[in-house]
Amino acid sequence: MTTPADRYASFRERQAEPENPEFASFRALYEFDFDDFQVAACGALGGGNGVLVAAPTGSGKTVVGEYAVHLALAQGRKCFYTTPIKALSNQKYADLVRRYDSQTVGLLTGDNSINSGAPVVVMTTEVLRNMLYTGSTALAGLGYVVLDEVHYLADRSRGAVWEEVIIHLPESVRVVALSATVSNAEEFGEWLDQVRGGTAVIVDEQRPVPLWQHVLAGNRLYDLFTDDEHTRVNSELLRVAQRDTWIERKAPGRPVRGGRRPRRFPLTYRPDVIARLDASGLLPAITFIFSRAGCNAAVEQCLHAGLRLTTPEEVEVIQRTAERRTADIPPEDLAVLGYGEWLDGLRRGIAAHHAGMLPAFKEVVEELFAAGLVRAVFATETLALGINMPARTVVIEKLDKWNGETHANLTAGEYTQLTGRAGRRGIDVEGHAVVLWQPGMDPGAVAGLASTRTYPLNSSFRPSYNMAVNLTGWAGRARASALLESSFAQFQADRGVMGLTRQVRKNHQVMAELAAAMSCEKGDFAEYAQIRRSLSEREGDLSRARATSRRAEAAKSLSLLRPGDIIRVPGGRRAGLAVVLQPGLHSARGSDGGNGRQGPGGYRDHGHPGNGRAEGGHAADDRTFTGFAGPGPLVLTEGRQVKRLAVADFPMPAEVIDKIRIPGSFSPRSPQHRKDLAATMRNRLDSAGPGERTRKPPGTPRSRGGATPRFQRGATPPDPPGDDVAELRRQMRRHPCHDCPEREDHARYAERYMRLRRETEALERRVAGRSHVIARTFDRVCRVLERLSYLDGDTVTPDGQRLARLYSELDLLAAECLRRGLWDGLSPAELAACVSALSFESRQADDAQPPRLPKGPVPEALAATIRTWGELDQLEKDNELSFLREPDLGFAWAAYRWARGARLESVLDESPDLTPGDFVRSVKQLIDLLDQIASATPANPKTPSPDPSAPADPSAPAASLAPADPSAPADPLAPAASLAPAASRTVAATARSAIEAMRRGVIAYSAVAD
Ligand SMILES: Nc1ncnc2c1ncn2[C@@H]1O[C@H](COP(=O)(O)OP(=O)(O)OP(=O)(O)O)[C@@H](O)[C@H]1O
Ligand SMILES: [Mg+2]
Repeated sequence: MTTPADRYASFRERQAEPENPEFASFRALYEFDFDDFQVAACGALGGGNGVLVAAPTGSGKTVVGEYAVHLALAQGRKCFYTTPIKALSNQKYADLVRRYDSQTVGLLTGDNSINSGAPVVVMTTEVLRNMLYTGSTALAGLGYVVLDEVHYLADRSRGAVWEEVIIHLPESVRVVALSATVSNAEEFGEWLDQVRGGTAVIVDEQRPVPLWQHVLAGNRLYDLFTDDEHTRVNSELLRVAQRDTWIERKAPGRPVRGGRRPRRFPLTYRPDVIARLDASGLLPAITFIFSRAGCNAAVEQCLHAGLRLTTPEEVEVIQRTAERRTADIPPEDLAVLGYGEWLDGLRRGIAAHHAGMLPAFKEVVEELFAAGLVRAVFATETLALGINMPARTVVIEKLDKWNGETHANLTAGEYTQLTGRAGRRGIDVEGHAVVLWQPGMDPGAVAGLASTRTYPLNSSFRPSYNMAVNLTGWAGRARASALLESSFAQFQADRGVMGLTRQVRKNHQVMAELAAAMSCEKGDFAEYAQIRRSLSEREGDLSRARATSRRAEAAKSLSLLRPGDIIRVPGGRRAGLAVVLQPGLHSARGSDGGNGRQGPGGYRDHGHPGNGRAEGGHAADDRTFTGFAGPGPLVLTEGRQVKRLAVADFPMPAEVIDKIRIPGSFSPRSPQHRKDLAATMRNRLDSAGPGERTRKPPGTPRSRGGATPRFQRGATPPDPPGDDVAELRRQMRRHPCHDCPEREDHARYAERYMRLRRETEALERRVAGRSHVIARTFDRVCRVLERLSYLDGDTVTPDGQRLARLYSELDLLAAECLRRGLWDGLSPAELAACVSALSFESRQADDAQPPRLPKGPVPEALAATIRTWGELDQLEKDNELSFLREPDLGFAWAAYRWARGARLESVLDESPDLTPGDFVRSVKQLIDLLDQIASATPANPKTPSPDPSAPADPSAPAASLAPADPSAPADPLAPAASLAPAASRTVAATARSAIEAMRRGVIAYSAVAD
C-alpha cells in the first residue's frame, strides 16, 4: 500500500517526465517549487481536461491559470484570462506582458482595449459574455478560458455572467475555474463536468501560511485557541469574558467610591492597537472597519496621536512614489481630493482603503503596502474581494457590521475571507488574525467563526431581459430554455428536490404494497374506501357546520335579551335559572332584534385587548361567528349570585321563560336586593305553574314578538338535510366490498394508503414547484418581452436587437425609454442626467431630500422615465416578476454638471454625500451605460432600419398589440414603432458627445479602476 506522499512523489515524477515537456518548460519559469494541488491541476489540464481549483486565498491558484496560457501558446491556440474586476485585469495584463510581450498579450475591459486580437487576452468576464452573444470573430481558435475568482458566480447582481459564460462557451474550450475555498466545490465541479465535459476538481484546504488567531483585550494579546486543532478555546480568555460580565452585572457605571473598583476593558484606541502590533512585530496590518467614515477617522486618530511607522528614508520613497503616481491629477483638484491629508498619512505609513477613495489613491496605497512602506491600512471589506494585498496581520474591529438595515453578524465565510489576507506567502512564517475585545463578547462564538473555514457557493442566476433576447436570437426559444436548464441554479434546485423525489418514489412503493394488502376479491376496495372517506368527510363537514350554527344561534339569542328576562342557562357552571340584569354589552338596545344585529363593536372591535374576553376566554372566539362582540349578559342566578354569562354557557340558544320587572333601585351589590329579586323570580315562576320550571315549548304567548319565538327569530336556518350523506350511505351499503368479512382489515390498509397518497401529492407539488424553475422564469420573461414586442415567437424584433446590447440592470427600462423617444432632443448633459437615473443607485435609502435637477426638459424626461418604470413594474407584477428597481435621481445633478464642464470641486461641493471615489465610479458606470446606448441605437447590420418618415407599418409587431378600435384608449405599453430609428440615432450621437464631455480630469486619469 502506498502512502499519499508516495503516490504524490511518483505523480510528480511523471509530470516531470520528458513526455510532458510543456509542463517541464512551464515549471522552469518559476523560482519556487509547485505545491501538490498546482501539480495536480496542471496535470489535469495537460491531460486535456478542464479543471476547478478551490484553494485558500494566496495559495497560488494563478499558476494554474498561467499554465493554461502556456499550453494555449504552445498549441497555437488562444487563451482568454477573465477576472471580475478591471483592476485585477490590469494587474494580470501587466504580469503577462512581463512574462511574454505586448504582442502576445492583450487587454479588454470597459476602459481599455489593447491588442484585442492577441492570442492571450485578459478581460473582464462581462466582456467575454458579450463576445459570446455577439458571436465575436475573436472567439475563433479559442482553446482555454481562465475564470479567475469564479466564486463571483454567487454575486447577486453579476453572478449570472459566469454561468452564461460557462454554459455558452464552445464545447472545445477548456475551462480553468479558480475559486476561493467553498464547502461545495465537489457539487460545483460536478456541474462543470456536466456542462463542460471532463473537469477535474482539485480542492486544497491548507493555507499556504498558517494562521494564528488572537483576541486583543486591553493591552494583552490572547491566543484564541490553545491547541493546534483549533478546538480548545483559551481558558484565560473565557475568564476575561466572565470577569467582564461579572463587572457589568455588579457595578454598571456605579461611581467609584474610595477604593478601586475592578474596571472593564476599555474599548481599544486604534493608535494603541497599531502601536501594540508594531511592538510585537505584527505589522504590516490591515484593520477591517466596516465603514468608510470609520476608516478615515482611524487614520486621523493615528495622525493625531503622532503615530509614525516609517523611517526618514522610507518617507522619501513614499513621497516620490505618491507624487509620481498622481502627477496627472490636475493640481486644482488636489485639495478637494484630500491629497494633503492622504499624503500625510502615507508618509507616516498609515492609510485608508475603501471604495469612497479616488481609485488612483487606492492604487498607490496598494503599491506602497505591498512594498512594506505603508504598514497600517484601515479598510472596508471591499479590500477582501479580489485585490491581492496580503498583510502579516488582519485586525477585525467588530464582529458585526451595518448592512444598511441592521447590524448583521459576520458570517464564518466573511471571517475566512477577511482573515485570508493574513500571512504573506514567501515573506511571513505565519499570519495573524486579531479580533479586538468588545464588551459582552463570547470567545466561543469567535472560535466558531474562526474554525469554520468554508462557505457554500450558491448560484444567483436568473434569466434577465437582455439574456432572453440574446439567447433567443442565438439559439431560439426552445433551445434557450434547454440551455437554461443546464445552469448551476437549476442543477442546485434539482439537487434540492432529489431528496423529495426519493421520498416520493418510496411512498409510491409503499402505496403499491398497501394497495395489494387491501385488495378484496369481492370488488374494488379502493373505490369502496373512497366512498367511506367521502362519507366521513361529509359527515364531518355537517357536524362542524351544525356546531357553528349552534354557536351563532346562541350568540344571537344572547344579544336579544332584555333586563328582567328570566332565562334558563342550559349548561356549564351556571346551569339553572337566572334573571337578566344587564344585557350583553354590545347588544344594541332598542333595535328590532332581527338579523344583522351586530353591536357597534362587531368585528371592528376584534382584537381590542380585554374586550369580549369576559368569561373563560370564549367570547373572543364567538365574535368571529356572530358579531356579538361584547361580554354576555349580567344575570342574577337562582343562587343569588350576580354573574356575567358567556356564549360558552349556551350550547343551545338562550330561552326566555318569563319576565319580571327589575326595580329601579336594584343594586347588585346589596345582598338584600339580590335576595329579594331571586325571590321575585321564584314566585313568578311558581305562580306560572310547575311547567315553567321545565322546558317550555316554543311559540307560547309569553315569547315576545308575537307568534315566532324570539330565539328562533334570531337563529340561522338549520342546514339543509344531508341528502348527499344519505346517498353516500346507500352507495356504501350497496358496494360489493361492504359485505366482505375482512372489510375492516382492508379498511385499515386503505386508510393508510389514502393518507400516504395525500402526503405524496403534497410532495409532488413541491417537486413541481422547483423543477424547471429557471425555464419557467425564462418563459415569464419572454412573455413580458412578447407583450412589448421585443420578441415575436423565435424572432428578435429590431427593438429586441437593441435590447440585446443593453446589459444594464435596468436593461428593459433603458430599451423602453429609447423606443418611446423619452430622451430625444436632449443635450448631452441632459441625456447624462436622465441616463444616470438608470446607472446610479444610492448607497443609502432615500433620505427624503428632493433631488436637485437641471431646469429645462430634464424634469419632464425623468418623470416620463419613472412613469415608464411604473408601467413596466406593473407588467412585471402581472407576470410574477420583479427585476426592475426604481430609477434613482440622486446623481442627475452631478452628472449634468460634470458633463457641462463644471470643476470637480464645485460638483463635489454641490453633492455633499458624494465622495471622490463614488463620483468617479458613478461617472464610469454612467459612461458604460451611455456607451451601450450609443452602440445599441445605430442601425446595426442585422437591424432593418425603416424609413422614419413612413407611417407605421400596420403589419409590424406593434399592430398586433394596438387596440383595434381607434377610439379605444391607447395602450401605454404598445410600442411606438415609428419613433425608434431616427430619434435614437440622434440619442446615440448625443450619448457619444456626453461620453466625450465626461471623460476628462479625474475621470480620464483614473482609467485603471474598479
Ligand atoms: N508553490 C509556491 N511556492 C511559493 N510561493 C508561491 C507558490 N505558488 C504561488 N506562490 C506565490 O504566492 C502568492 C499568491 O499567489 P496567487 O496570487 O496565485 O494566489 P491565489 O490563490 O490566486 O489567491 P487569491 O485567492 O487571493 O486570488 C504569489 O506571490 C505567488 O507568487
Ligand atoms: Mg488569484
